[in-house]
Parts: sequence; structure tokens; C-alpha cells
Amino acid sequence: MVHLNQHFLEIPETYLFSEIAKRVDAYKKANPEANIIRMGIGDVTRPLPEACIEAMHKAVDEMGKAETFRGYGPEQGYDFLREKIVEFDYAARGVKISKDEVFVSDGAKSDTGNIGDILALANKIAVTDPVYPVYVDTNAMAGRGGKLKENGCWDNIYYMPCMAENGFVPALPAEAVDVIYLCYPNNPTGTTLTKEQLKVWVDYATEHKALILFDAAYEAFITEKDVPHSIYEIEGAEKVAIEFRSYSKTAGFTGTRCSYTVVPKACMAYDKNGREVSLNPLWNRRQCTKFNGTPYIIQRGAEAVYSEKGMAEVKDTIAYYLENAKIIRNALSAKGYEVFGGINSPYVWMKTPSGSTSWEFFDYLLQSKNIVTTPGAGFGPSGEGYIRLTAFSTKEKTLEAMERI
Ligand code: MLT
Repeated sequence: MVHLNQHFLEIPETYLFSEIAKRVDAYKKANPEANIIRMGIGDVTRPLPEACIEAMHKAVDEMGKAETFRGYGPEQGYDFLREKIVEFDYAARGVKISKDEVFVSDGAKSDTGNIGDILALANKIAVTDPVYPVYVDTNAMAGRGGKLKENGCWDNIYYMPCMAENGFVPALPAEAVDVIYLCYPNNPTGTTLTKEQLKVWVDYATEHKALILFDAAYEAFITEKDVPHSIYEIEGAEKVAIEFRSYSKTAGFTGTRCSYTVVPKACMAYDKNGREVSLNPLWNRRQCTKFNGTPYIIQRGAEAVYSEKGMAEVKDTIAYYLENAKIIRNALSAKGYEVFGGINSPYVWMKTPSGSTSWEFFDYLLQSKNIVTTPGAGFGPSGEGYIRLTAFSTKEKTLEAMERI
């Protein structure tokens, strides 16, 4: 008799963004004339940079000739891309990361979900609340969740509330935790931590022999000086943190898929005898076994992000989305709504008016204004009373959405 993974029966039936897509589809079916503006899932609308397209075309041609054809690539990514990452994303910021600490992959979502493979089930997980649901769901699937409580929280996961009341800065855990997920600039709130605030977490992890899983997928949107782009800008972080980066929101790769994860050789976990073991070879081993590398054509596209032309195009795209974020912030503030984020992030986090719940306000915006948002409660109980709007639409649609509100 085959037994299933029981934890799959314990998690909510649908993933947050699938649930929203289902509701929007049902609404669209019932109201085919509705002109819907999508500001829900953080999916980009601007096309890939020309520099990436040119590089990918060239790579396609190489794949079509026997003398330049390539089959399986290195599971960790091609050197040409890993070297660019080291040089432009780290060395340029004074951070020393070596090529073999960089693992190219097909998405920060996959990597943040898969990283648990190399960590013991007994680890106590800490997440901010609200939180990108992948961190929680994947741990619950693996069996680290414990029991699902009525408020949607797992009793074995430690939640760190981030609300307007505490400036969206999580307090250090009041009990011992082993693995801490931090996402900055934050998804969903769009808020950030300063270097000093992030240092508190690196110091905590160092003192408690904990591990920080730092999701920096939105670092390209940082505009303010004191906001770190990488956790490795904080002294000692290479010993206690793994960092996830993505080309999805930066260069429009949501459909093309390319990202990378940095696992420094100095980053340690402990075996059952308390012996220190570097996580880098373990992640390498995991990737070699379960992943056959990001496609060559895609990695050539990602490499082009670092060309002069690529960098200029990416800068324009980011500026375009940040302008949308400003439009959203200004329009909503002018109407008297309380808004957060949107300055170093494509996400604007808005307090729902007159005490309505997140889902009530989500329904209201969908049905009365034909605008799709994401209900804050879908990201955790501290997201109740908020909705998230993304700046990834076109400028025209962003302006129209604000006009409608
Ligand atoms: C989001 O909307 O939170 C993100 O787009 C989801 C993702 O990147 O997987």
C-alpha cells in the first residue's frame, strides 16, 4: 500500500496566488465585459531587455550548430554567469564571494522551497508575519509545521509580527529558533531594514548558532542609501546566512526563469554530534542530484544583464516600476489611505479602510473597481486589515486603477 506524505493533507488546499487566480477567473467568467487591472501577483509586464534577447538569440543559434551545441551544463551554473555575479553583485559592493559559492538556478521560489532538504526536520523555523507563503508552506510540507491553528498559523513555526505599530521591524524571537527567514526589501509589505537593523539579526544568528535564509529578490529596487542590498554587507553574515537572488523582477525573467543562491563556504550548520559542517558542499550535492542546471540560453540572457546595455535597460525598467509605485503611494495617500513600502520596493502595503477585512476589501476592489490586489491576510494573521498592490502593471493601467479608486 502506498502512503502519501500526510503533511500535504494538513496544509491549506490551495496556494495563495492560485486561490486568487481562481477567484479572479470566476469573476471574469461571470462578468466577461469587466476590464480587469491586475495588481495582485508580482508578475512583471515590461518585456525582457533587448540585451538579453540578443544574447539569447545568439545562444539559440549556437545550440543549432554541431560545433557550438551544448548539452547538460554544470548543475551550479556556467562560469560566465557566476563570474559576472561575483564581480557585479558582490565585489562591486565590497563583498567577497567566490564563484563556487554561487549556485545558478531556475527561481528564488524553488530555492527557498528546496533549501530545507539540507536542514534537519527538527529545526525550529521563524518567519516574519506577514510572510511570503512559500517559506511556511514548504516547511509544513516537510513536516516542520506541527499543527495548523485556527488563525492559519502552524503551532511549531515561530511568527514574528510586522505591523505599522512596530514599523514592520520584527522583534528578536522570545524563544530559541534555528532557522530564520528574512526577506528584504520585504514581500509583501515593501518595507526594509537598515544595515543597523539587519546587523541585529546577524548577531542573533551568530550568538545562537542559527541560520538566516535571506531572500533578496527585490534588492534592485532599493533607492535609499542605508538599506543593504546583500546580507553579506553585514560583518560576519557569511558564517550564518544563505542569500537568494532573482532576475525575475529585475530583468523580467518571471516567465524565463533564472535566479541564484549564495551559500558561503563559511556558512555552517551542526550535525547530530554538534560538529560544525559547511552547508556549501551539501547544497552542491543536493543540486547535483536533483537539478540539471538552468538552460544555457537562459543563462546567456542573464549574463547580458551585466553588459553596459543590459544594466542601462534594467535601470530603466526598475525606474519605470518605481514610478508606478510612487503613483500608487501618492494617489492612495491623497485619498487619506495609510500606505507603506513602495520606495525601495515594487510593493505597496495599504491599510484597508473602515475596519474591513483584507478579503472583504479585496472583493470590493475586484467587484466594484475591477482591480485585483492581494489580501494581506493571505500572507499571515498580521496581514489582516491590509492589502498589497504591485507596481508591475503598465503606467497607463496603474494611473487608471488609481483613478478608479
Ligand atoms: C508575489 O506576488 O508575491 C510573487 O510574485 C510571488 C513569487 O515571486 O513567487
